Amino acid sequence: MSNATGVVSRRLVVAAGLIGLLNGPLRAAGKAPPLVVPEVDKLALQVIDDAATFGPFLPNLDLPGMKVIRAGNGGPQVARMLPRALLGEFGLSILAESQRSGQSRRVLVDFGYSRETLANNLSLLGIDPRSIDAAVLSHGHLDHYGGFAGLFGETAPKGTRRVPLTVGGEETFCERVAQIGDPPPIMGALDRKALARAGYDVRIRPEPAIIADQAFTTGVIPLESFERAAIPTQMRPGVGCDRAGLAPAKRAATQLPDDGEHELATCYAVKGLGLVVIASCSHRGVINTVRRAQAVSGIQKVHAVIGGFHLVRPRTDDEARRTVAEFARIDPTYLIPMHCTGEVFIAEALRLMPQKVVRSYVGSKFLFEEPGRRA
Ligand SMILES: [Fe+2]
Repeated sequence: MSNATGVVSRRLVVAAGLIGLLNGPLRAAGKAPPLVVPEVDKLALQVIDDAATFGPFLPNLDLPGMKVIRAGNGGPQVARMLPRALLGEFGLSILAESQRSGQSRRVLVDFGYSRETLANNLSLLGIDPRSIDAAVLSHGHLDHYGGFAGLFGETAPKGTRRVPLTVGGEETFCERVAQIGDPPPIMGALDRKALARAGYDVRIRPEPAIIADQAFTTGVIPLESFERAAIPTQMRPGVGCDRAGLAPAKRAATQLPDDGEHELATCYAVKGLGLVVIASCSHRGVINTVRRAQAVSGIQKVHAVIGGFHLVRPRTDDEARRTVAEFARIDPTYLIPMHCTGEVFIAEALRLMPQKVVRSYVGSKFLFEEPGRRA
């Protein structure tokens, strides 16, 4: 009995394995998620850098599962006019502060475009760079890494505690050429020696990872929905990055289209609410990004998605509208579009689900906590 049964069992195992491969890893219903993610008691996300600023006239909001505190023209949470102002630019940076069992952690997600903006806004918002426990760089584009020296300067003062910086792959460091002009301009490359001088300790994590005990990154985001990788840059293997660290199919090329393989989202599981996904630029698709966060954590409920959804060129208006329809199916409680999201998505989402869309400006702070848990 044993031999025959053994053969059948092995065949079944092989067949099941093949079905699993055909269906893809995210469709393995009932399978344990690859990461046990911690649940945080509360989470605050503050916009440090984005394109839009606003004067001191916006009201704060108290919504189910989310409070929004607007920064005035300078002060942390007070409407006032100061000689200096929060600055906006085409860049993205968000500070996440979470709390779990009385322990707080601060994670800086991206650094914006310029050192001056990051340093100015951190200072005006009253954030001490030395209080940051870890950083995540979502991908190797200038509008996300350009401001990294805004924390401690080009050379961190002696004795500065190094900030662990998670990136998604060696591709982060390849020189980029922007496909937005004629001739296409060099966007540059992130210099890892400069990062080390400025006080960062780089970790390459293409797999899902826990960050500062309380957050998690998605690792490589599979292209599983209707969304394609749509990235207006090309990448130069061997320039700034080590060819040996790239996917084998990319190593020999001198220049090739970016596919965002190294792009990460940073996420939290908030007790009683669900996932909060920080989709920095969504070059692999914001729906793919959210689906990946669900698969990594095993948590289906999405409370909020914040960041750049990149529904502008090279994506189309139709893709923007289809993304809104997909979000209607996922049914997050809140959508907070920023940065490269684009007007078509925002207009369509406001038309179809106005109660879900909350606008964001530099200095805005989004507080997530299960309503009953408030003191
Ligand atoms: Fe971006």
